Amino acid sequence: MDKNKVTYIAENFYWDGDLKKLFIENQEVELSVSQKRLITYMLKNANKALQNVDIFYEVYNSMDREFNEKSVRNLISALRKLIPSINIKNDYGGYYTLVTYTQENKEFKKYLFEILEQSKNAIALTDPNQFDNPIIYVNQAFLDLFGYSSEELLGNNIRLLNNGDTTQEGLTQLKKAIRAEEFIEVNIREYSKKGDLIYDEITISPILDTQREKLVYFLSVHKDITATQELLQKLQEIL
Ligand SMILES: Cc1cc2nc3c(=O)[nH]c(=O)nc-3n(C[C@H](O)[C@H](O)[C@H](O)COP(=O)(O)O)c2cc1C
Repeated sequence: MDKNKVTYIAENFYWDGDLKKLFIENQEVELSVSQKRLITYMLKNANKALQNVDIFYEVYNSMDREFNEKSVRNLISALRKLIPSINIKNDYGGYYTLVTYTQENKEFKKYLFEILEQSKNAIALTDPNQFDNPIIYVNQAFLDLFGYSSEELLGNNIRLLNNGDTTQEGLTQLKKAIRAEEFIEVNIREYSKKGDLIYDEITISPILDTQREKLVYFLSVHKDITATQELLQKLQEIL
C-alpha cells in the first residue's frame, strides 16, 4: 500500500487514489462508477462546501444532461447508506461537504475524553457505526465501579456487564430504546469482574452530529444503587 495515495476519510476507512478503491476495515467496498466519481471529487475538495449543481456535472460528466437535484440527493443518500460512518454535511441551498478525519477531529476527541476522564460518574461511549456497537471509551470511574481494565472493555459490546443475566425487564427496554435511538433510564443487575452483583441505574443518550442528522455515539452514565436497592429489599421483607 502506497501511503501517499491513501486518504483516510474516517477512522475506519480510506480511499486508495491509485486503485480508485475504498476500503473499510481493510475490506474493499463495491462502488458504482458515479459513486467513485463522487468520492474522487469530494475528496479533492474535502471540508469545502460543494454545490449540488457542480457535483452533478462532475459526476455525470455531461453538459447536455439537464441538472437534476434529486439525482445528486439520491447518490449521496445511497453512499451514506453504504458507508454509515461517512460524514457528508448538508447545508441550506443544496451544498454538501465531505468532512474528513483531520488532526482537528482527533484532537477534539482526545480533549473530550480528557474531560470525561475527570467525571465522578461512570461513563461509557459506544460507536453504533461500527459492527456490534463496541465500547470506544470508558472513564476511570467506570473502571473503578466494574473492576475491569480498559483493554478488557474497549472494542467489546457493553453487554458483558450483565454476565448472562439477561432475563431482565430493564434489558428489554434498553434494547428497544437503543434500536429506536432514544434516550432511556433503567435499573438493571450487573456484575463486576469479580462477580459481585451491582444494581446499576443507567441512563443512555444517543449523541447526534452537529447537524442533528446522524447518530454518532451512545453515551451511558452508570450509577451504583446497590445499597439503596438492598435496603429496599430488606424493608419489603420486614413489612
Ligand atoms: C451506551 C450503552 C450502554 C449500555 N450499557 C449496558 C449495560 O450496562 N449493561 C447491559 O447489559 N447492556 C448495556 N447496553 C446494551 C447492550 O449493548 C446490548 O444491546 C444489550 O445488553 C442487549 O444485548 P443483546 O444484543 O445481546 O441482546 C448498553 C448499550 C449502550 C449503547
